[in-house]
Amino acid sequence: MPGPSRVFLCVLAATTLAGAAAIGADALQRRRQAWDQAAALTLGDPALGQGKIAAYGCGACHEIPGVDGASGRVGPPLKGIAGRAYIAGRLNNTPSNLEAWIAHPRRVDPQTAMPELGVDPRDARDIAAYLYTLR
Ligand code: HEC
Repeated sequence: MPGPSRVFLCVLAATTLAGAAAIGADALQRRRQAWDQAAALTLGDPALGQGKIAAYGCGACHEIPGVDGASGRVGPPLKGIAGRAYIAGRLNNTPSNLEAWIAHPRRVDPQTAMPELGVDPRDARDIAAYLYTLR
């Protein structure tokens, strides 16, 4: 009897699709929350920061999710930086410390391999905002 089984398949397909849509919406919502929280934490603009990371060439040395071509292996990957306790194993991971590190890593430690890139404070803030979306 094909009728009922076809109905069953239709219902199954519909619930699967609805489930997938719900998961997609959920992921979008979580991403949005992460971006809002990062902006509130730093008072920077994560979307601008994403572009500035590319402009300063951070990706030559770091793997950075969401930044085209950022697959460098000189420094640590920056995925998950939002959840790390320390920055470069030296500074407590706070927004102002992250900005300070980005702007002047060699003021934190003259021996660090990360170079001074001449990042201005406004840019450091936006870049920190983007990095805090990386959980
Ligand atoms: C020439 C390579 C190089 C470039 C370019 C570079 N970095 Fe780094 N970065 C490093 C190295 C090496 C370290 C590890 C430093 C240390 O522990 O002393 C590091 C560490 C870091 C850390 C700490 C990571 C952690 O896991 O604690 C952050 C954050 C960071 N860099 C962000 C940036 C940003 C943002 C830019 C662009 C403005 C950038 N870096 C450009 C080499 C680089």
